[in-house]
Amino acid sequence: MTPHLTEAGREPWRYLDPMTMTPRTALVTGGTRGLGLALVLRLARAGTVVYTVARRRRGIDALRSLARQEGLPIIALQGDLTTLGTPRRIARRLAKDGVVLDLLVHNAGLLGPRVPLADWSRRDFDAVIAANLSAPFDLTRRLLPRFGPDSRVVFVSSGVTRGIRTRWGAYQISKVALETLAGIYAAEGGDDGPIIAIFDPGVMRTAMRAEAYPDEDPATLPEPDMVAEELLELTKALTASESGRRLTRRLGR
Ligand SMILES: NC(=O)c1ccc[n+]([C@@H]2O[C@H](COP(=O)([O-])OP(=O)(O)OC[C@H]3O[C@@H](n4cnc5c(N)ncnc54)[C@H](OP(=O)(O)O)[C@@H]3O)[C@@H](O)[C@H]2O)c1
Repeated sequence: MTPHLTEAGREPWRYLDPMTMTPRTALVTGGTRGLGLALVLRLARAGTVVYTVARRRRGIDALRSLARQEGLPIIALQGDLTTLGTPRRIARRLAKDGVVLDLLVHNAGLLGPRVPLADWSRRDFDAVIAANLSAPFDLTRRLLPRFGPDSRVVFVSSGVTRGIRTRWGAYQISKVALETLAGIYAAEGGDDGPIIAIFDPGVMRTAMRAEAYPDEDPATLPEPDMVAEELLELTKALTASESGRRLTRRLGR
């Protein structure tokens, strides 16, 4: 295959299969359920070696056993991304494995209580900021040496960043700040840095959505796999000059 060059003169995303444009190696945070799990399975079933991380043993064990059954190239690590140790440990592991990352998706997220801002405890506020903002900041900077040519970093955001809403508190604040953080990484990365995308997944049939809207019928919501497919399609189409762009779903709510 003769690789085509992007307008910045870089090599393209190192596709496993040029027809489907599948990345070789990816890291998706929070890959044990919801959108993260859908992304991990979609990528691994296409042949991408996928690293993922989540806090709970149960989810990690279930994913490892599914990977064994299907023979999928998934490396599931247990860890809490809000700690100082976990992002460092992941960066060391990827370096030890000699990984050149084509795709990083900052998917792991925490909702927090759906109450007015003044009723948030300081502990809940800090926990949401740590999961949704500080962890993606830290992991990205630590993984900068691991990104390959034309690699992509996707920051999963939310529709709540559009205007002021009530009862989303630190969740909304963290996602607004996350979009700024992504923009800064895009601007400061220049032509040598990874291509940055902000992705608004819209609503999805996941545990987080059920926690936010307990009275809603989940059957009315799009499956995370549909959203994962669209995230990957939109991300791979992004060019270097579009780094930092906010991508929204074309289909569904
Ligand atoms: N669901 C929606 O409708 C919706 C709408 C807009 C935006 N989003 C965004 O989309 C992303 C995925 O949402 P989702 O609905 O799929 O969420 P979810 O069902 O709650 O899944 C979250 C995943 O992240 C992991 N995780 C959470 N905190 C972590 C931490 N500190 N360290 C490591 N892993 C952690 C969870 O595993 P453990 O619990 O085991 O750690 C789980 O695998 C989030 O960024 C969310 O804000 C969702």
